[in-house]
Amino acid sequence: MNIEFRTEPLAQLACSALVVYSFEGSTNAGGTAELLPAEIKALLEELRAGRELTGKPFEFTLVHRPAGLAALKLLVVGAGKKEKFNGSQLRRVAGAAVRYLRARGIHDLAWALDGGDGDSVQPVVEGAIAADYDADRYRTERDNDKRIDRLALATGGANPKDAAKAALDRGRIIAEAQNFARDLVNEPANTMTPTILADRAKDMAARFGLDCQILGSKEIQDLKMGAFWGVAQGSDEPAKMIILRYTPSDTPESPVVGLVGKGITFDTGGISIKPAENMHEMKTDMAGGAAMLGAMQAIAQLKPRVRVVAIVPATENMPSGNAYKPGDVLTSMSGKTIEILNTDAEGRLVLADALTYAKQLGCTVLIDAATLTGAVTIALGNISTGVFGWNQEWVNRILASAAAAGEKMWQMPVDDDYREQYKSMIADLANTGGRYGGAITAAMFVGEFAGDTPWVHLDIAGTRWSNEEKPYLAKGPTGAPVRTLVHLLTTFPG
Ligand code: BES
Ligand code: MN
Ligand code: ZN
Repeated sequence: MNIEFRTEPLAQLACSALVVYSFEGSTNAGGTAELLPAEIKALLEELRAGRELTGKPFEFTLVHRPAGLAALKLLVVGAGKKEKFNGSQLRRVAGAAVRYLRARGIHDLAWALDGGDGDSVQPVVEGAIAADYDADRYRTERDNDKRIDRLALATGGANPKDAAKAALDRGRIIAEAQNFARDLVNEPANTMTPTILADRAKDMAARFGLDCQILGSKEIQDLKMGAFWGVAQGSDEPAKMIILRYTPSDTPESPVVGLVGKGITFDTGGISIKPAENMHEMKTDMAGGAAMLGAMQAIAQLKPRVRVVAIVPATENMPSGNAYKPGDVLTSMSGKTIEILNTDAEGRLVLADALTYAKQLGCTVLIDAATLTGAVTIALGNISTGVFGWNQEWVNRILASAAAAGEKMWQMPVDDDYREQYKSMIADLANTGGRYGGAITAAMFVGEFAGDTPWVHLDIAGTRWSNEEKPYLAKGPTGAPVRTLVHLLTTFPG
């Protein structure tokens, strides 16, 4: 999508569709509809009086051949109540306009900016690029021609300030990183093996100037990653540990932020096999890893002044003659022993060794993202990511970045009283804590391997995927929590 600023007066801007938004409960046009010439504003007020235009969220009013405008069409998008309007809502309104227009064969649009400042530019650009995405790459009759080629950011006359130009670049980089993560998640397990995921990471790293290192089965075993290897040993696809480093010059040795992402390219459950129904969804069990790769793609371009290491333990979880079994005891890289009660609780095992390794590589702060539990989807649905951690300062930073980036997150408890649930009779830990509080005991199990290092866990089992089409986002992979991570790292230490 080509995106550029345009400075001609709104009325003279030639394009297929000019987009403005309008608030709910206004008596006048409201929102950027206020910027339109008087005769068109009068028409909108007439529509409002007749209740054809109300400004309710994602209401679309399309005016053909609007009098007094050079644009061929005018689209008025409802933006909801003015009191509730913010950057997150603006991102969605912009996305909704893109999806509405592209479905109607329109390829270029102009967005009426609210002044020439930077504030509205980034959400509009992010919303537009994320909305112009569909998870349809394997359909032979794709809606490929239904794409937006050009987006004009219409200032109405003013020259865009430097801050606005920077906001355009930032918005593009972030949304493209989000879409990169979505592409990885959307890929089925036969075309997204651990080897292919590692190759995609390598290509991305070479393109954007990151250091990339891939460990294979031998190195994983030599490093005594017994928990990771326990999961990996049942698959014919070779496991990979993906390590990406962003090391800006003239930044202090510490802090080093470790981004650890679960990279199970397919989760059958192993010997504790999952039911057939919906098992195909387990191709998305590497969404945490994909998000970390997406975040790295963005920060390689945005260049924040903080060191970052991303670590993605990638393997399949398969039942086979070599697979690990319920009752097995694994010795993790940390030395802690783990009794396997359920081979479907594999995510916490690969994360355990990846976190230990991250600390060994010098990470001083740890964030993991993982499609870890079905339990978190029962608690929070597909709407909010579960946030866990003992260090409230770090939890608060994540929550603040999530709010700023427009990704919903909700803190869940961790508490010593839950520890009882994952004690083992014969080993240091058991890999399941039972059904009750399943997202909490899973998170706390992972946290045992972070030790005293500040750590936050994001359970994205619900938010990695949208089960329905939204006005502003296609059904399918969401790219969560790429935007939150990028916000956190670019405002570091904030
Ligand atoms: N990958 C799953 C969790 C999951 C469920 C992700 C639904 C996305 C959607 C994870 O490996 C798993 O199987 N967890 C088990 C843990 C249980 C065996 C303790 C679960 O949640 O049932
Ligand atoms: Mn599982
Ligand atoms: Zn899993």
